[in-house]
Amino acid sequence: MTTNHTGLSRRDALKAGAGLAAAATLAGLAPQVYAAGSDTIQLALVGCGGRGTGAATDALNSKNGPTKLVAMADAYKDRLDYSHKTLTKGEKAKNVDVPTDRQFTGFEAYKQAMDCLKPGDVVILTTPPAFRWVQFTYAIQKGLNVFMEKPITVDGPSTRKMLKLGEDAAQKNLKVGVGLMCRHCDARGELFKRIKDGAIGELMLLRAVRMKGPEATCFSGPRPKEMNELEYQIRRFHSFLWASGGCYSDFLIHNIDECCWMKDAWPVKAVATGGRHYRMHNGVEQIDQNFDHYMVEYTFADGARLLLEGRTMPDCAQDFSSHGFGTKGSCVISQSSHFPTKARTYKGWNFAKDELAWQWGKEEPVPYQLEWDHLLDAIRTDKKYNEVERGAKASLVTSMGRMAAHTGRVVTFDEILNHEHEFAPDVDKLKVDGPAPLLAAADGKYPVPEPGRKKDREF
Ligand SMILES: NC(=O)c1ccc[n+]([C@@H]2O[C@H](COP(=O)([O-])OP(=O)(O)OC[C@H]3O[C@@H](n4cnc5c(N)ncnc54)[C@H](O)[C@@H]3O)[C@@H](O)[C@H]2O)c1
Repeated sequence: MTTNHTGLSRRDALKAGAGLAAAATLAGLAPQVYAAGSDTIQLALVGCGGRGTGAATDALNSKNGPTKLVAMADAYKDRLDYSHKTLTKGEKAKNVDVPTDRQFTGFEAYKQAMDCLKPGDVVILTTPPAFRWVQFTYAIQKGLNVFMEKPITVDGPSTRKMLKLGEDAAQKNLKVGVGLMCRHCDARGELFKRIKDGAIGELMLLRAVRMKGPEATCFSGPRPKEMNELEYQIRRFHSFLWASGGCYSDFLIHNIDECCWMKDAWPVKAVATGGRHYRMHNGVEQIDQNFDHYMVEYTFADGARLLLEGRTMPDCAQDFSSHGFGTKGSCVISQSSHFPTKARTYKGWNFAKDELAWQWGKEEPVPYQLEWDHLLDAIRTDKKYNEVERGAKASLVTSMGRMAAHTGRVVTFDEILNHEHEFAPDVDKLKVDGPAPLLAAADGKYPVPEPGRKKDREF
């Protein structure tokens, strides 16, 4: 019997198609096929960088496999080649079957990779966030389940699009995971329950901190002459607000999201300060759009506050944690980076040993693995699974704090959601050799936020 690269024999495919079409007519839904004729769920990777390669590895290693990577897409060949080399090393290589004719490059590559899948397979979207809605739109058309990395939007207009797409995906019964992996952590889940049960009284204050040295491509010197503008901005996407929401959105969203989870609410407004101490690095002027420090006060509807501090500066005190403070005690939500959380509650606010009330105290599985185990389980057991609304709102409140810092104004949830400034409205039409969404001035510098001066838009 012949099988195609979808893993389905022709007979299986016809059988599955007929059965599902009938079921779909009854349910009024588009046909949803998975694992028919084979229990292997196939994957395509779109955006073959660090996280994409990691996410594909987690998918291949999941206890809810088997999965098989059958197609890869990236804007740039060198990135795809490196990822392919990494994925075809070691134990997981046996589940990677991506010959050169299923390796695609360029800005249309995502379509070609998704065309290699059948409905019900999974596409991994791990490009810079700007492309998320474009690629998600096509995935929904193709009836694919999706894993997409955070942030999933960078501004109000892309959030509105994403919320609508999330509904479209739910209507088609597609399963969609969003890479806010901390939401999959059992220690935080137990802490959340305890807070709900009143363990620390009313949660009135949260404090989230990510103070580290410069990370990823948050700072950028001038564009090398041999590289075109668009490629430069995409390769250094943390430096450009249209591509990523900047270092603020990329780095701080996890802490913001885990605090909002514990509060079980999204903040209604934000006021913030921020700025750029240093533009010179190793004698070279940095021309990216980022501030190097942010301080945000988020307010919830009940008046509770989330205080957020972000700093991207070398040789300063470092801290990467989230804490909550209630009327009867306090809690550690995460202590150092994303895991282990060392989640615990205290009777007072001093985090004193003799006031410890509860601690998770058990081993904490890697949340990047858990998010895949959960998504694949939902696919196999046909559970409802759609993290888009939550991911879009987490991305939006992140943008709300960033906009407050960049404009110097109080920004409300409703304002950022309905705001008209779309950073890259034509991101679905980019051409490899075409112009970039952001233009540098004649001196090679990009527009930067100017709080109190540029007040309606961030740049
Ligand atoms: N959940 C987490 O803890 C976590 C950690 C790291 C990164 N991330 C997220 O993952 C995403 C990617 O980050 P990364 O660190 O892997 O960056 P990266 O630069 O290593 O990878 C991005 C890849 O996407 C490719 N790409 C860019 N535009 C494309 C397009 N239009 N079509 C196809 N490919 C395109 C790039 O060439 C690159 O290979 C970001 O949204 C980031 O925030 C999440």
